[in-house]
Amino acid sequence: MPITVRVDTSNVYNVIIGEGLLEQSGALIKDAAPGASRVMIISDSNVWPIYGRRLEESLSSEGYRVYHHVLEAGEASKSMKSYAGILSKLAENNFGRRDIIAALGGGMIGDISGFAGATYMRGIRYIQIPTTLLSAVDSSVGGKTAIDLPEGKNLAGAFHQPSLVICDTETLETLSFDTFRDGCAEVIKYALIGDSDMFDNLLEVMVEDHVEEIIAACVSMKRDIVSEDEFDTGRRAILNMGHTFGHAIEKLSGLEVTHGQAVAIGMNIAARAACRKGFCDELVPYLVERISRRYSLPTETKFSAGEIAEAAASDKKADADSISIIVPTGVGSCRIEKIRMEELEGWCE
Ligand code: GLY
Repeated sequence: MPITVRVDTSNVYNVIIGEGLLEQSGALIKDAAPGASRVMIISDSNVWPIYGRRLEESLSSEGYRVYHHVLEAGEASKSMKSYAGILSKLAENNFGRRDIIAALGGGMIGDISGFAGATYMRGIRYIQIPTTLLSAVDSSVGGKTAIDLPEGKNLAGAFHQPSLVICDTETLETLSFDTFRDGCAEVIKYALIGDSDMFDNLLEVMVEDHVEEIIAACVSMKRDIVSEDEFDTGRRAILNMGHTFGHAIEKLSGLEVTHGQAVAIGMNIAARAACRKGFCDELVPYLVERISRRYSLPTETKFSAGEIAEAAASDKKADADSISIIVPTGVGSCRIEKIRMEELEGWCE
């Protein structure tokens, strides 16, 4: 039986999680976003050949006119050029205000499709169909959409909630070991910020053995946070646990360190610093290191504290003289700590 999590934001929508949902996606979309005649599937060159046809057939069987637009896989496609290409494709095919975009892929596809959805004709509906664990537990839910600019990641974007999220867990079966483990870092993040039972559980079982329940637990937690702070002006920041240091490491490595690996290192840095500075006891960094190793995720980086601090200082979430760090105060609890820029290096060891 699929699991449904209802997200109550400016737009109320369901996240449906289960095996084999791609075949039912036409009917699910018709129910969640009635009145459309056209659907534009946006996907990437890895995902489209495996799952495109299944989605296309399901949509066609519900009477939709179905179009597709395939981007080269990889973060480089989350660009102004690709974004403009999507808008042109929608316009060339006479997409109107009631028509729909379906984002079939990981975070890059979800983010750029959502941004096209937020801006085409001042906003049309879009459906997220995440095919990575990382996008299933995080980026497909909560309405953050964006593209990258040459000056930095996610610098142009909008809040635009999807009309539906369909997470077919069968699509996770074709992920490489490394890509799946990347998503596990985000799962660990949820446990660390807000669910000690989940954390204990992740030390006993493996994510892949309980994938539907674990995705649903993460999405429910994100739903609670996003319902309280949809536009990211307060508590939503806790979802960035490990990310300030992680983004800095990703950037320093020229994206050689993947997002999940960087977040894992970032969580370890945050836990070690929190302990040094008296926010938690030493069990926290010990357990964060143990769980990272269990999921084959790194805990250390070759970059120095000074290099990480310098790269983190240019994070778009930093002010001129201060930056917010998400600090674990225990396993399953955290706080937002605003620190002065000159203190940052001492947090990055
Ligand atoms: N990925 C963090 C957020 O949605 O706020």
